[in-house]
Amino acid sequence: MSTEEISTAEIGAEEAGPESTASRRTVLRAGVAAAAVGAAPLATGRNEAVAEAGPADTRTGPARVALKINGKVHEPELEPRVTLLDALRERIGLTGTKKGCDRGECGACTVLVDGRRIKSCLTLAVMQQGREITTVEGLAHGERLHPVQAAFVGNDALQCGFCTPGQMMSAIGCIDEGHTGSDAEIREWMSGNLCRCSCYPNIVAAVRQAARELR
Ligand code: FES
Ligand code: FES
Repeated sequence: MSTEEISTAEIGAEEAGPESTASRRTVLRAGVAAAAVGAAPLATGRNEAVAEAGPADTRTGPARVALKINGKVHEPELEPRVTLLDALRERIGLTGTKKGCDRGECGACTVLVDGRRIKSCLTLAVMQQGREITTVEGLAHGERLHPVQAAFVGNDALQCGFCTPGQMMSAIGCIDEGHTGSDAEIREWMSGNLCRCSCYPNIVAAVRQAARELR
């Protein structure tokens, strides 16, 4: 039956009352049956393809990942989907790096990879094998604070402290990059790190002081 004939049958059914309504249902049922018959070869083809593929690929499962963090190699078993942030905090126990937004907006998770600051929630741990990862735990030498840490303490650049590890890692990157020519420049290049306690003036002062000592 052509589309035109079906349309005519449907129009006729609506106009002609209950008896013709039955024939309209018949037409629709026939259409559904035809669609099912048409779909059958596709479904069969898919099953055959799955059967040919054999057992599921297991390369997506956990595997040992070698991560060099603060000079020490850690080899946690990780699935490929694990972020560097989760690897640090939940698999290796380095909880100094904080999880704020977990989507690249707050900067609380900032670490250094080969000397460059990155947001560890936005990168997979497996992608950082063979690189030098530095977290806030790797800054001090025993009791001796890193100049950036000392500057944050000296300038009272924290209140609750949640953002502070990320701020300090980012400050090291900012200083190394040479973006400390003015307070405005420091603000601009530290703008990826948010502070809910709004300690920004003190953070800028701390970065300015540390930059003077490190350059
Ligand atoms: S936790 Fe990574 S940017 Fe917020
Ligand atoms: S010191 Fe509280 S969020 Fe920055």
